[in-house]
Amino acid sequence: MNTRITRTRISALALVALGVSAVACGGDDSDTLQVYSGRHYGIETAFEQFTEDTGIDVEFLTGNDAELRERIAAEGEDTQADAYITVDAGNLAAAADEDLFRSIDSPVLEEAIPESLRDPENRWFGLAVRVRTIVYNTDEIDEADLPTSYEELAEPEWEGRICMRNSTNVYQQSLVASLISEHGEDEALAIVEGWADNAEILSNDVLIIESVADGLCEIGLVNHYYLGRALEENPDLPVGLTWANQEDRGVHVNISGGGVTTYSKHPEQAQQFLEWLATDGQDVLVAENHEYPANPDVAAEELIATEFGVDFLRDELNASIFGSLNPEAVRLMDEAGYS
Ligand SMILES: [Fe+2]
Repeated sequence: MNTRITRTRISALALVALGVSAVACGGDDSDTLQVYSGRHYGIETAFEQFTEDTGIDVEFLTGNDAELRERIAAEGEDTQADAYITVDAGNLAAAADEDLFRSIDSPVLEEAIPESLRDPENRWFGLAVRVRTIVYNTDEIDEADLPTSYEELAEPEWEGRICMRNSTNVYQQSLVASLISEHGEDEALAIVEGWADNAEILSNDVLIIESVADGLCEIGLVNHYYLGRALEENPDLPVGLTWANQEDRGVHVNISGGGVTTYSKHPEQAQQFLEWLATDGQDVLVAENHEYPANPDVAAEELIATEFGVDFLRDELNASIFGSLNPEAVRLMDEAGYS
C-alpha cells in the first residue's frame, strides 16, 4: 500500500541533501501536490482529509520559514513547491516580497477570507487566526484591575509585573508593526520603551504562560492558542485571558496562511488546495491548534469558544502591513532597548 502523504522534516543540514534528491527524482512530472510548510500544527490531518476529499495526493516538508523561503528561491523555476504555507503575516509578506508567490484569481478565497486577512494583490491568504493578547494570573490580579490595552502595559504601574516575548520573534515584531501603523513611529517608540522598562523578556510564549501561572509575572502577552493548549492539558491552570484594545481599534490579529508558488507545476491544484483549506478544510486545519477560523462562516472549536469566546473586537488593519512595517518594527525595538 502506498501512503498518500509523505512527511519530511528538514533541518538546515538535511536541506541540501533533500534538494539534490528532489532534483534527481525530477518529481515535477508527477501529479502529486508539493507543499512546503512553516506551519507545523494541524497540517497532517488536514492534508490527509484533502486527499480523501479531492483525490489529489499531497507531499509536504516542514522547516523553519527562513530555510523554506531560501529553498524555494534557490530552486527557482525548478522548485518542487506548489504551495507554501506558513505562520505570521510577516513571513507571508516576506515570501511575496521575494516574488515566491503568484497572484491568483479565486472568487472562493475572496468570498471565504475577510479582506484584512489576505494580500491586497492576492498572492497570499490567511487561513487561520491567532490573536496576540493579554493573559493574567487569576489568583494575583482581579479582572477589574486588568490592563485594557497594549499601550497601558507601558505605564509605570506595570513595572516588574509583565512577561513579554523577545524582539527577534516575528509575532512580537508584527504587534509592534501594528503599533507603528496606529500611532506613528514616535509614539510607538515611547510605548515600546515603556514595555522595555516594565517587562521581563522571555524566549517563547509557552514560557510566558508558565511564568504567569507560577506567579513570576502577573501579566503576559501571548498568542491565544498557547493558552488554549495549556488549558487543554490543565483546566485548573490559574491563567485567564482578556482581549486587548476593545475600547478602540480592537485586539491584534495575526494569521497563518499560504499562497501558490510562482513556479508551481500544479497551480490549479495548489489553488484548489488553498480554497479547500479556507472552506471545507477550515475546521480540521485550525481546531487542533485552538486557532480561530479565518473564514467567518466556520465555527470556532469548543475550548476557545467557551473559554475565550468568539465575540470580540478585532483590529482590521490589513495583515500585509505587518510585513511592510517589519523593518521599522525591528529597528524601533532595538532603539527602545527592547531585546
Ligand atoms: Fe506559534
